[in-house]
Amino acid sequence: VEILYLDHAATAPPLPEALDAFLAASQTAFANPGSLHGLGANAGRLLEQARADLQRALGARDYRVIWTGTGTEGNHLGIQGLARRLRPAAERASKTPPRVLLGAIEHPSSMQAGLALQDQGFQVEIIPCDQSGVIQADALRPLLGPDVALISVHWANNELGTLSPIAELVRLGRQLAPNAAFHVDAVQAAGKRPESIDSLGADSVAIAAHKMGGLRGCAALLLRKDGPTPLPMFIGGGHEQGLRSGTENVMGAAAFAAAANQRRLRLRQNPRCYLDRRDQLLKLLREVAPDLVVAGPSSGPDQGDQILGSILSVAFPGTRAETMLHLLEVEGIVCGSGSACSAHGHTESAILQAIQFPTELRNSVLRFSLDGSESNDDLARVAKALQSALASFQRI
Ligand SMILES: Cc1ncc(COP(=O)(O)O)c(C=O)c1O
Repeated sequence: VEILYLDHAATAPPLPEALDAFLAASQTAFANPGSLHGLGANAGRLLEQARADLQRALGARDYRVIWTGTGTEGNHLGIQGLARRLRPAAERASKTPPRVLLGAIEHPSSMQAGLALQDQGFQVEIIPCDQSGVIQADALRPLLGPDVALISVHWANNELGTLSPIAELVRLGRQLAPNAAFHVDAVQAAGKRPESIDSLGADSVAIAAHKMGGLRGCAALLLRKDGPTPLPMFIGGGHEQGLRSGTENVMGAAAFAAAANQRRLRLRQNPRCYLDRRDQLLKLLREVAPDLVVAGPSSGPDQGDQILGSILSVAFPGTRAETMLHLLEVEGIVCGSGSACSAHGHTESAILQAIQFPTELRNSVLRFSLDGSESNDDLARVAKALQSALASFQRI
């Protein structure tokens, strides 16, 4: 059977444009950009071109691009690096330990990076989310103060596809936590939303190539040009303005920029491409499973600005996600259950707990994550496969 891959939030297949850029860079710019010969200079030029292209594609003119290896690494540099940089200012403001505020359903790479700061004397507090997974301004406001060194909230959640109102949260943070840096994990949202990175106004923003059709092993931390500079996690040769030592992944960067540019072109053509596909898939799934329960924001105009679009998580009552996943795979439909971002994806989702998703449905959630280019026929195939999976499930 023909495979329809709907697990883009775990990782996306490389776009042809990214593969072309990777191959071209590997042939013409394989040298070390730090080498003094002409080939090194070529590689250096290509790396800077990729930096500028990435900035343009994501609308990040106010930011410098620091290349990293993974989204996880960007979250560490943004969270730990900035908290450590801002610690003295937060300490001067209060006699109590400096505080770090983390969104309730951050990806483990942010959550663990933040929690680990406790070992260094920071006090970590969790910003609660609502039942759709949104971090509302009202939840953040009471936690703010001059002793806060860092705030971290992701733009989009990887399991639910919920968006938080980052620009509003950043403005609030600036007002009420003047010594704090604001870090945003945009690994899922970047390249999938028409809003620019500039419009968020955060101090640092983590993104990763492999979630948008670039290649794994290349990612970036975007740092606001007139914002604070994190203390580096990796020191050594002083690459990336001393913020991330290690020989630069020139070909990965070229592929990343090419992928981001394709995402920009798609969004320019139709800013709602992901939302439209999600709406269509949800409509078709409801026709065959009227009792399904959406995890996160369901739909409707009032929730429109809370929905990323490329992710749809739904529980099918009375089923087990693992079994359903395999039944769907037999029909060629490849999707996810919970989060593939934890190493094995078998523990019960902390995110479903945090949004108080009904206990009896927590093992019944499938995550369909879209490329945005699926046809109506593709999505109709999903509904048909689901219908037969539900039928055979009932026979088990
Ligand atoms: C929201 C979010 N943040 C961070 C990451 C980590 O990115 P990486 O696996 O590239 O380190 C992921 C996915 O893995 C993610 O979905």
